[in-house]
Amino acid sequence: MKREKTACHCKNVTYGMIEDAIKQGAKSYEEVEKQLRFGTGCGKCKEFISFLVKDILDEMKSMV
Ligand code: FES
Repeated sequence: MKREKTACHCKNVTYGMIEDAIKQGAKSYEEVEKQLRFGTGCGKCKEFISFLVKDILDEMKSMV
């Protein structure tokens, strides 16, 4: 995953920021959203980021 890639353009949230939020304890899409406040502009990124969060969570679960 490219950490510097932008996931939410309106709020300038990168893949790396989402990954870090999850590593620091966010356990769901809602928690990541609350921390990073993406999706409050045009809203177009929401669906994509929900898949991204799920992917990262799955990946982390499989590493335990
Ligand atoms: S790209 Fe995320 S709110 Fe517009």
